[in-house]
Amino acid sequence: MNKIKAGVVGTGFIGPAHIEALRRLPNIEVTALCEVNLEVATVKAAQLGIERPCTFDQLLAMEDIVSVHVCTPNFLHFSQAKAALLAGKHVVCEKPLAKDLHEAAELVELARETGLVNAVHFNLRYYPLVRHMKALRESGELGDIYSILGSYLQDWLFYNTDYNWRLEPDKSGDSRAIADIGSHLMDILEYITGLKTVEVMADFNTIHKTRKKPLKAVETYSGKMLQPEDYADVAINTEDHANVLLRFDNGNRGSITVSQVSAGRKNQLKLEISGSNKTFAWNSESPNELWVGNRDKANESLMRDPSLVAAGAQSIISFPGGHNEGFPDTSKQLFKEVYDAIAQNKMPEHASFPTFADGYRELLICERILESNKKQGWVTV
Ligand SMILES: NC(=O)c1ccc[n+]([C@@H]2O[C@H](COP(=O)([O-])OP(=O)(O)OC[C@H]3O[C@@H](n4cnc5c(N)ncnc54)[C@H](O)[C@@H]3O)[C@@H](O)[C@H]2O)c1
Repeated sequence: MNKIKAGVVGTGFIGPAHIEALRRLPNIEVTALCEVNLEVATVKAAQLGIERPCTFDQLLAMEDIVSVHVCTPNFLHFSQAKAALLAGKHVVCEKPLAKDLHEAAELVELARETGLVNAVHFNLRYYPLVRHMKALRESGELGDIYSILGSYLQDWLFYNTDYNWRLEPDKSGDSRAIADIGSHLMDILEYITGLKTVEVMADFNTIHKTRKKPLKAVETYSGKMLQPEDYADVAINTEDHANVLLRFDNGNRGSITVSQVSAGRKNQLKLEISGSNKTFAWNSESPNELWVGNRDKANESLMRDPSLVAAGAQSIISFPGGHNEGFPDTSKQLFKEVYDAIAQNKMPEHASFPTFADGYRELLICERILESNKKQGWVTV
């Protein structure tokens, strides 16, 4: 088989997750690896068993590399995705697509002009029960949507000694919890319900107004291994916690809460969508179970099983019921759809996967949420 050769940029937390997911697909080979410099790339390529360590320019010059995965901090997404498209590569970019709306708009336009395949790694859409909920909403089983409740809670920034580039707006953007995890939540809610968020009202809180920045580099989620003398005090001006009220284009309402300082909540996206026929409740930490609430009969609990989900969700399930699938499977299923398009060498007109346009949409909502928090009032999206 002639495998599609891919290059990955960045190997902190999420880069290796891309590499592993790509390797689980039969028609792809992760051929090249780019890091912050050639020395780091060489070490990481040896650890990860990748043939060609390289600089970013070397990666773009490799004619046999067909696709580039951008897995670097947010401030690099725009320049790297743009350069990759201009070099004729298909691009899978991490979320958020860019640091601001202008950058995102330019990427959407450039991707459209080139006709290259463009995707944003909104992988949480690829939990099978998420697609099942979407399919049941599309077939009318959920009914008209009355209300939406969502939360995304983490605890990895709980202590004032927890530190990461995401706390620095020049690297992450002006919003943190909303842009980092709220983006997944807003994406998944619009994806499942098919509704558009039309107005937002936000209230942010920075719990730790000063944090202790390590004087040595620390990778995301790598834990607390430093001593007090290894830190410097830094003022923090992005949100640890946010509440947002939402109005949707069907006239109904919802609300979300995001937090990166909720002890014990490791990475929990929870949603509850109530329709005129039933309610769906789902939690990403138990992703193979769906609670279905009924008014006139007993409530139900569905365990993910390819023979029990809606037909539209079967294609993203690889294992039978009871054989749990989780976070690493979401990227595999997303890449399967993206690489079907890459194999055709063409961006589909109606892509099943999240595109740069979806990345733009999330940035638009995030920017309006930021604006609303600043003015402490409703803002139209
Ligand atoms: N979809 C998801 O579920 C998910 C999960 C985590 C992170 N992310 C996104 O992935 C991106 C990376 O996050 P992370 O948690 O892996 O961060 P990280 O800090 O753990 O890793 C970033 C990597 O990029 C490398 N890097 C920095 N500058 C570079 C450069 N100029 N060229 C090449 N490599 C460079 C760093 O050395 C590091 O290895 C972020 O945009 C984040 O929002 C998405």
